[in-house]
Amino acid sequence: MRVLATRRFVGPAWDELEDVAIGSLDAARDDVEALVVANERVDQTVLERFPHLRLVANFGVGYDRIDVDACRHRGVAVTNTPGVLTDATADLTFALILAARRRLGEGERIVRSRRWTWTWSRGLLADEVTGSMLGIVGLGRIGAAVARRARGFDMRVLSLRSAGTDDQLDDLLRASDIATLHVPLTPRTRGMIDARRLALLRDGACLINTARGELIDEEALVRELVSGRIQAGLDVFADEPHVPEELLLLDNVVLTPHLGSATVRAREAMTRLVVDNVLAVLRGEPPLTPVSA
Ligand code: 8YV
Repeated sequence: MRVLATRRFVGPAWDELEDVAIGSLDAARDDVEALVVANERVDQTVLERFPHLRLVANFGVGYDRIDVDACRHRGVAVTNTPGVLTDATADLTFALILAARRRLGEGERIVRSRRWTWTWSRGLLADEVTGSMLGIVGLGRIGAAVARRARGFDMRVLSLRSAGTDDQLDDLLRASDIATLHVPLTPRTRGMIDARRLALLRDGACLINTARGELIDEEALVRELVSGRIQAGLDVFADEPHVPEELLLLDNVVLTPHLGSATVRAREAMTRLVVDNVLAVLRGEPPLTPVSA
């Protein structure tokens, strides 16, 4: 078997992989030439189990759990799936902005609990999204797609191309009504939104994260949310699928289970790109979407 995948991926392209098995990365195999992973950890220890490996194809754009340096040293290519999930993730970012801002979770829970009374629902006054100040941290493909959507809401947009300098990030956080994170997780960005930076957010500001949970000091975020000072919309968490218990009880945070790329169109296109990368490398051709360390 030449390809080992951690799961079966959705879409017709998957059937083009002939010599594929679904399994974990735990057992050593010397027949495997390509691994297909969904951001599972691939480090030196994992690589040693697959002596004939030529490719690690990640189903996803973020590849922070893959040791790209270790792969390169062993002559193993690494690929990701850029571009095809941009719109899906930008759409979900806006869904979280609107849901957190307009208190959709609270409203939904009131209706479902059969406790809806006019007095109650009139209390759900919210801040408007239209015309507010949006701070975008990371103006790559997804950040730029979020900025385009913001125009339709007459939002004023502040943005940083990457993580920016420390001062720029501080200024953006101070000025934003809504701040949204779109940088990759790297040693530099890990924990960049720490307790000090959370404290820079305005009272009532809203923090959105559809990138990686580890960008934020999650314990500090929980404290800030428990205090009720800010709001958040979170699709990603530091230790998925674990979600801090305190958050489950709060109305000022909207929680979703890592749904950024979860549309049929995006997921099928991700599978297409993964399969094309695998087929290219198995044929001895260069991969289509390689990543660098
Ligand atoms: C993936 C993601 O679904 O692309 C990414 O970086 O976080 C998601 O779209 C996830 O990585 C699982 O493969």
